[in-house]
Amino acid sequence: MQVVSTIAELRARLADEPRIAFVPTMGNLHEGHLNLVRLARENGSCVVASIFVNPLQFGPNEDFDKYPRTLEADCAKLRGLADVVFAPTVNEMYPSQQTVFVEPPAIASDLDGAVRPGHFRGMLTVVLKLLNIVQPQIALFGKKDYQQLHLIRHMVAQLNLPARIVGGETVRATDGLALSSRNQYLDEAQRAEAGFLYRVLQEMRSAIIRGERDFEQLRQRKVETLSARGWSVDYVAVRNQSDLLPASAVISGRAQRNLVILAAARLGNTRLLDNVEVSLAD
Ligand code: PAF
Repeated sequence: MQVVSTIAELRARLADEPRIAFVPTMGNLHEGHLNLVRLARENGSCVVASIFVNPLQFGPNEDFDKYPRTLEADCAKLRGLADVVFAPTVNEMYPSQQTVFVEPPAIASDLDGAVRPGHFRGMLTVVLKLLNIVQPQIALFGKKDYQQLHLIRHMVAQLNLPARIVGGETVRATDGLALSSRNQYLDEAQRAEAGFLYRVLQEMRSAIIRGERDFEQLRQRKVETLSARGWSVDYVAVRNQSDLLPASAVISGRAQRNLVILAAARLGNTRLLDNVEVSLAD
């Protein structure tokens, strides 16, 4: 496995690779990332992982400085799984002030975007830069960041990028907590509570499968349950998988049969994000 930090080195290394599968990350790798890298191996003859904590996608009061940077440990985990690790500096990615950005569609201002203004603009801009730098045939992203994956698919389609985008399933701890680099910020009591978010999503999913169609009331009840247990809820939402718009209670078109329940909530200062898909049979 080769670790490179400059775009020139990376381009030289990848020049003759016919089928590149790419996993962009911000490092601090866990099983969720490694799963994507394994999936990449099934889809490409050269597997590239990038490790870059992108300043553009962090708000001024967010955890950019505190975000765990563990390059050595990450490379140890990737050895035997990836062929190339691209770990650029901020200066390599942004040698001058970035003044050209990807302007995301309106849905980027909803859900996570409502709480993290500018986040998706910064995320899409770096993903476009990385796709242009690596030029993969396939790029893989986790479904845990569902809105991110949706926006990347949208950007790739609308800007006619040649990469095929693949979503990897969320990997969970035994209590259901979705693996995330930010889980390590949780103290012991918060960690014991954290799996409850997934339970809430599963309960909502079961209720919808049983026929519950008052999504607003269902959603509101779960916000109250979480709040009563000490969570600070950013959103709990029932949306269409296709466009992430609010799901209508009247299930008529095919698109509306595929729903996704998304939630973001904080325990103390730690913000947890999760979702479950619901496919309703005819
Ligand atoms: O999901 C992440 O880790 C980041 O948002 C990504 C896609 C690597 C862009 O910085």
